[in-house]
Amino acid sequence: MATKIKRIGILTAGGDSPGLNAAIRGVGKAALGNYGWEIVGFRDGFRGLVENERINLDRNALSGILTVGGTILGTSRDKPHRMVVDGETKDMTGVIRDNLKKWGIDCVVCLGGGGTAKNALRLHRAGINVITLPKTIDNDVAVTDASFGYATALDIATEAIDRLHSTAHSHHRIIVAEVMGHRAGWLTLGAGLAGGADVILIPEIPYDVEKIVEAIRQRTKHGRNFSIVAVAEGAMSRDDAHIYDVAEKKLKRAKTLGGKIEAKREIAALDIRHQGNTMRLAKLLEELTQLESRVTILGYVQRGGTPSAADRILATRLGTACADLINEGTFGVMVAARGEETEPVPLEKVAGKRKSVPPDHHWVATARRLGTCLGD
Ligand code: F6P
Repeated sequence: MATKIKRIGILTAGGDSPGLNAAIRGVGKAALGNYGWEIVGFRDGFRGLVENERINLDRNALSGILTVGGTILGTSRDKPHRMVVDGETKDMTGVIRDNLKKWGIDCVVCLGGGGTAKNALRLHRAGINVITLPKTIDNDVAVTDASFGYATALDIATEAIDRLHSTAHSHHRIIVAEVMGHRAGWLTLGAGLAGGADVILIPEIPYDVEKIVEAIRQRTKHGRNFSIVAVAEGAMSRDDAHIYDVAEKKLKRAKTLGGKIEAKREIAALDIRHQGNTMRLAKLLEELTQLESRVTILGYVQRGGTPSAADRILATRLGTACADLINEGTFGVMVAARGEETEPVPLEKVAGKRKSVPPDHHWVATARRLGTCLGD
């Protein structure tokens, strides 16, 4: 069913990632060129919809941004239903709906990960036309084959692991490289495989330090007295994973608001305790193997800079397909990558879901065949 669209909005939310500008350009060029709509960019995520902070995305604004890292719109982790305004946390959903109506915005395109899909779904349920595109360096957005940002981050993390090899080798050291990914191990597993890490630790496979030590000792026995350990920021020991598991089950079971708040507090405390895990792991490995250990936290380097060719193509494909879906009147969906095609999937299938590494994934099997230690 064709919808009479005149003006669309676009925003970027959550952590930035390479390819966001390529996607803005894809949506914008198709919107202007193929459909003649006006396109307005809202600044700093959902906050722009409240504060009317905007940029008119005309042809000039869309020119020259394909290769630019970050997002020209700015981003934030603000949630429409829990936004701090004038020092108070407020539900701004109604304000956003009224604003969009007042400004004549027929649809809002939200570029983000699973959290953004959740927020977009809330707006959709409040009667706003929304559509999302999957971006994340973590590759953990559900129901899409790929999300833009991941391919670039994978290249960056792989290059870092490549470079760490020569210095680890020269000094006969263990180098523990911490890779981003939140609760998913895709980035670490991919970079670990591509960079030839000796140990790969991901959240989906809780580790036993003794197994890592044994793998490193075996390498020393065979004359290789250095090791590269690629560890995901969310990776944890079996004991810690069990403690998290108990806390998360408690949250799921909580029936009252008070119970939920308490369970969430417990998880937050565990998250704080988890910070520094990589440093502690390296220290432990040094003590147990008697090999000098060093840590490199790759951090935000993985999110910055120019998108790779693969991410530019993906973001452009998803962005242009998004304009076609808006033209058809398809809302409340995420534009998913499906092989070489794209497909609209209902936001209910994406929001609050996480695509984790299945323990029997073929990348895991490949690493095992190579003899890479996965800590289990
Ligand atoms: O989701 C992308 C990501 O970079 C994760 O890998 C990481 O855990 C998180 O964002 C960091 O978030 P922030 O930018 O809020 O520090």
